[in-house]
Parts: sequence; C-alpha cells; structure tokens
Amino acid sequence: MFDLSTSFDGLKFSNPLMPAAGPLNGDLEKLEFLVSQGLGGIVTKTIARALPNIPKPCIYGDKTFIMNSELWSELSYEVWVNEILPKFHKSKDRPLIISLGYTKEDMEFLVPLVEKYADAYEISTHYVGTDLTVIQGTVRAIRKHTKKPIYMKISPHLPDPEGFAKAIKEAGANGVVAINSLGPTMKIDLKEKSIIYGNEKGFVWTSGPAIKPVALATVYKIKQAEPSLTVIGVGGIKNAEDVLEFLLAGASAVQMLSAALLYGKDLYKKIIADLPKTLEKYGFTSIEEVINHGLKKEVVYKQSLPVLDRDKCIDCMLCEKICPYFAISYPGVITFNPDKCFECGLCIAKCPTGAISYSLKR
Ligand SMILES: Cc1cc2nc3c(=O)[nH]c(=O)nc-3n(C[C@H](O)[C@H](O)[C@H](O)COP(=O)(O)O)c2cc1C
Repeated sequence: MFDLSTSFDGLKFSNPLMPAAGPLNGDLEKLEFLVSQGLGGIVTKTIARALPNIPKPCIYGDKTFIMNSELWSELSYEVWVNEILPKFHKSKDRPLIISLGYTKEDMEFLVPLVEKYADAYEISTHYVGTDLTVIQGTVRAIRKHTKKPIYMKISPHLPDPEGFAKAIKEAGANGVVAINSLGPTMKIDLKEKSIIYGNEKGFVWTSGPAIKPVALATVYKIKQAEPSLTVIGVGGIKNAEDVLEFLLAGASAVQMLSAALLYGKDLYKKIIADLPKTLEKYGFTSIEEVINHGLKKEVVYKQSLPVLDRDKCIDCMLCEKICPYFAISYPGVITFNPDKCFECGLCIAKCPTGAISYSLKR
C-alpha cells in the first residue's frame, strides 16, 4: 500500500535509504551486511589510490554526534578491484554507488578500473580544497570515462554550496551528495589535558544527529539553486521522520552512517520498516509523493502566547527553568506572564510531554 521506491538518473531504488561512506561499507562482509538490512542502494567506502595513514583511536562517540579522523578506505584499490567488487552481489533495484577520491589524476586512473561494477559514482571532495575549477576538472576527468551518474559529495567547510552545485552541473555531474562530516572540530581529554582523537593537527570531523540542521539547509540551498540536479541528503539522520525531512528539503534519496554507529547497526532495517507508518502519519502514500511535495516556501510564523494543557503537564518545571525571559512562574501551577513572554517558542519546543502549544492569540 505504501510505495517506498524512488528513482532518478536512470537508477531505481526500492527505498530511499542508503549507507553513507564510512567504516560500515569498508569490505565485502560489511557490504553484504548492508544488503541484509534491506537498503535501497549500496555505497562503498571511499576508494583511493594511496593507502591512508589512519591515526588511532579514530572514532569517538557522544550522545548525539560522532567524531572521526578515519580518512578513506584502509584497503587498497587492488583489493577492491580484484576481490571485493567482483564478489559483491549486484541487483537491479539496489544500485551500487562507488565512492572514489580525490584528484583528477586519481579519477583518470580509478574510474576505468571500477566502471564495470559501478551503477553510479560518488566523489569525495573532502581533501581537495575549495577551488571550484579544480572540482570541475575532477568531474570532467570522470566524464571522459563513463556515462553513468556522477554525484559530487560536498563537505560543509566548502563556503558556497550554490556555487559548488552550479560548477559541478556545468562540468557534467548529475548531482550532489550533501553533506560530508563537519569540521575541523576538536576533542579534548581533560584528564590527560591533551587531544586523544585527531589528525596530526589535532582535528577531527563531526557527524551524526547534531549536524542534521547544517545538512538540511545545504540540501535545501542546493535544490533551490539548481533544481535539475539530484540531491542525495546525508548528515544526522536517525529515524524515518528525518528521512522525510530530507526529502521535503529537496533530496531524492538519503544516506546514514553515524546514527548506526551510535545506536546500533540494525537501525537501517528499523528505519525502513518505520517508513510506511511515518508516511501515513504525515499524510503521504509514497516516497515519490514526499519528494514531489517539497517544502512550502513560506515560513509559518505562529506568534502567540504559549498555552498550557494542564492534563498533559507533569509539573517537571523544565519550562520555568529554561525560559530565557523569566516569563514562567509556578505559583502551584505553570503560569505565563504575558508582559514578559517574548513568544520565542523555546518552552514549546522543549516541553517533554507536548503540554505547551501556540494556540492562544494575543
Ligand atoms: C568514521 C567515519 C568515516 C567516514 N568515512 C568517509 C569516507 O571514507 N568517505 C566519505 O565520503 N565520507 C566519509 N564519512 C562521512 C559520512 O559518509 C557522512 O557524510 C557523514 O558522517 C554525515 O552523515 P551521518 O551523520 O549520517 O554520519 C565518514 C564518516 C565517519 C563518521
């Protein structure tokens, strides 16, 4: 009854969820595990010509974010080309997107080697700087060797997503994967008074639910600027509702990694299983319907005083504790002071039981 499929650039996906490039798609066993999760498409870890020198430890997990200094695949391109890719079981409705890095010369070398296994390419631009003409050169180098879809992955440290989108479109790419991890960021060990995770400069890259707002805005900016480009959304997804948010913002499919590292690798399966009831909850019958719906352009302002549903209030006093305008007091029951209330909305967003709403007009 609920159609989860999505298709673009000649590729068909049984559902919109894919794994994002990282440790979970780093070898054959892991790729097969991802297939068993029922993902709509499979993406590989980024394959490069040189072997990375990965500092250990390289993955830190907090409540809502992951930090990493993992670089690209620790397996050589020879292992991918001679062992992993030939053995990986391909299927028509589960495209294989091969992630490659990094330079134009790397592409000239790698694309011909993997072309017979790839349904599409995802190209990491994480370590190539911000010069868009260099990135265009990379796209053109790939295009010389393939007619298949090319998706350029944007990193959030690139300052101009709209300019990036325009440049890669002009050079012949089909779309953008948005976004890579955010950074540089830092992790300090107070006990050791030192940095225990990080590259030689002491920096790591941050991903997971905490970066979702950056990812959503980037997807939206790119789709608004270049509607004909395909956008694959990634960054912070942790549940089926997040998937729908990315599709509304302009993505045609999504990827996830960090939430699986934080909450368990079975999360992929759970999200796919939750998609039908989530579609239903928000009035949709198919994934395509969400994509075509898009976001309403206007921002919905709901300026009004908050109102309390006393049946739902559990007297936790969180609203009183957090109100930045000192407008909430508790003379036996939560009370809003209309003279002080700034209508900022924080109490409504943070109330754990949804007891506060916007329903009263001033
Ligand atoms: C441990 C780790 C390794 C990663 N390795 C790669 C990689 O090899 N290539 C790449 O393009 N992105 C890589 N990423 C970035 C992810 O693919 C993804 O873009 C980012 O983590 C945001 O998505 P998420 O919040 O769902 O994890 C890596 C991320 C993590 C956490």
